[in-house]
Amino acid sequence: MNFKRNIIVTGGAGFIGSHVVRLFVRKYPDYRIINVDKLTYAGNLANLADIEACPNYLFVKADIVDFDRMLALMQEYSVDGVIHLAAESHVDRSIKDPFTFARTNVMGTLSLLQAAKVHWESSPAKYEDKLFYHISTDEVYGALELTRPEGDADGRGPYGEEFFVETTKYNPHSPYSASKASSDHFVRAFHDTYGMPTIVTNCSNNYGPYQFPEKLIPLFINNIRHRRPLPVYGRGENVRDWLYVEDHARAIDTIFHRGKVAETYNIGGFNEWKNIDIVKVLIRTVDRLLGNPEGASLDLITYVTDRAGHDMRYAIDSRKLQRELGWEPSLQFEEGIEKTVRWYLDNQSWLDNITSGAYENYYNDMYANR
Ligand code: NAD
Ligand code: TYD
Repeated sequence: MNFKRNIIVTGGAGFIGSHVVRLFVRKYPDYRIINVDKLTYAGNLANLADIEACPNYLFVKADIVDFDRMLALMQEYSVDGVIHLAAESHVDRSIKDPFTFARTNVMGTLSLLQAAKVHWESSPAKYEDKLFYHISTDEVYGALELTRPEGDADGRGPYGEEFFVETTKYNPHSPYSASKASSDHFVRAFHDTYGMPTIVTNCSNNYGPYQFPEKLIPLFINNIRHRRPLPVYGRGENVRDWLYVEDHARAIDTIFHRGKVAETYNIGGFNEWKNIDIVKVLIRTVDRLLGNPEGASLDLITYVTDRAGHDMRYAIDSRKLQRELGWEPSLQFEEGIEKTVRWYLDNQSWLDNITSGAYENYYNDMYANR
């Protein structure tokens, strides 16, 4: 079959990548979607079980750091678009093992860029109708101050006057955000130096189904379910801006098709929450859905030593994307959290598969020293 487009999605077996792959495979049957993923501890093909038999979907197990392999794949499938999500993504792991983050996030991105460059420059149309779309994070901008710690009259965000805009100076603090910042710079350098058509987007914290249960929301839902302690870092005052993962995937679709080359777009939901307030929402929701008395799990909250270099507040200004491309988040947080909690409670076997068996070593390794 001749496909209209041949797109590599890297990291498609991970959390956000699986939602992007699913959206593209279903929405564009005339595109071939090639999911390139190394299947690290965070990659799980069960995330894509519902679309794996689709004729326009292909999975390739490969390491993005392997330049020869990336080039061969681009040539074999006449790739004209790359949506790059593969990364090491957990801040706590980056504090323990920064090398792996530099390897995948920096060298992996560079190897993909160089493979795309060699492939596209040797094709007759060169860079015409090609796109290298790099998915990044708001964490590259550093941290904002908490100048309104009480929030608005209802105790909600914004928790400060300042927001990250596309021109905010990079100021990463964790090895994770430093590696992502470096990869963003390489992507822009390939545009400026070689004329490669690139786009970078920086998104706020995502939540939703299929997130690896080392991140705050799935970890805590699972712990409440099993009456395990909920390790809140520091005093739980840190603020994050949360976006439902399918809204991020829709933004990626919009930007891939209509975004302007060489631009940066911030993606976020204007939805700031203090960690401790999120934890209380999770407790309330899980207890209600499990039929526990209200407040039954509040005693699980356990304040633990703060994360080293813990960024105080992230808040994204995504008005450029709303103004120029008309994207808006579709879900209110309450609705998104309800859907998310229900999904994890209904998919206990997905969680069990990760916290036992083949994944056991990775998971236990991470939590052994807490
Ligand atoms: P994830 O950790 O759930 O998934 C990462 C995927 O990349 C996994 O499937 C893993 O197997 C794969 N991978 C890792 N190293 C690889 C390598 N060397 N070669 C090939 N594949 C490899 O991550 P996520 O939360 O889905 O994040 C995806 C992207 O979005 C990342 O680039 C991350 O920086 C960015 N991002 C994430 C968030 C968030 O809240 N999760 C927010 C903004 C941006
Ligand atoms: P996380 O989900 O790791 O995302 P990120 O660090 O990329 O923002 O963490 C979200 C927030 O929750 C962050 O401020 C750290 C905090 N946190 C805890 O308090 N306890 C935990 O066990 C985890 C994983 C995170």
